[in-house]
Amino acid sequence: MENLAEVIKWYVLAGVEDICADETFNALDTPPLPENKVVRKVPVVAAMRPAITDLAQANDSARLNARELCAKANNLSELKKAVESFDGCSLKFSANSTVFGYGNPNAAVMFIGEAPGADEDREGKPFVGKSGGLLDKMIAAIGLKREDCFISNILPWRPPGNRTPTDGEVAVCLPFLRRQIELVDPKVIILLGGSAANAVLENVDSISSLRGHFTDYTTSQGKVIPTLSTYHPAFLLRTPNQKAKSWSDFMRLQRKLTEI
Ligand code: URA
Repeated sequence: MENLAEVIKWYVLAGVEDICADETFNALDTPPLPENKVVRKVPVVAAMRPAITDLAQANDSARLNARELCAKANNLSELKKAVESFDGCSLKFSANSTVFGYGNPNAAVMFIGEAPGADEDREGKPFVGKSGGLLDKMIAAIGLKREDCFISNILPWRPPGNRTPTDGEVAVCLPFLRRQIELVDPKVIILLGGSAANAVLENVDSISSLRGHFTDYTTSQGKVIPTLSTYHPAFLLRTPNQKAKSWSDFMRLQRKLTEI
């Protein structure tokens, strides 16, 4: 009896609503599949292909459009206007502001995060919330001020609920970040967190394996700029026992700045 109750619970969970049928049948009495029979798979991918292609094409043309806008932008303020006029990323329509990079346009150090959060979306500036507060302290620890640096994100718009950006969103917005890097032309770039590191370095490695290492980034004009990946301040706020590793990354950054 106990087993029967379990079976019925399982049926309910599986969505069975009716246990009566007009005719009795034994579910176990179905003929076995012949051995080695080739079972035709439902062509899910083929059926979805038109939709996938449409989406990919929309993304491709948005990316192309972003690149064209970037090519025409000769300075940061022109680029900011170009980003604001760009309609190729749907995140723009759920966000309150376009959060463009902010800071010293001739900075030696450029920080790149993932995407604006609620505070940044409200104020229209990157890293002004709790993560920004910690970032300010980290910057101060190496004798710099936020005003000395240029701070930006992979995405200029907040993903709803702070969800992780999709690959498509990153691909569409990346040309704007790449152009910011070219225009600021920093001596070193700090990649805050896995999303920034993966997008800029075009890899899928974990931030715990990337952090603390310098990796060269090459602009479309062939300029090589060293990047240093480290943990995102939001991660450090959630996981304070990892702060020592970030501290050592920032010491490495400080040393690098005396060499270049
Ligand atoms: N997190 C980010 O990655 N960027 C911001 O601007 C704020 C929080």
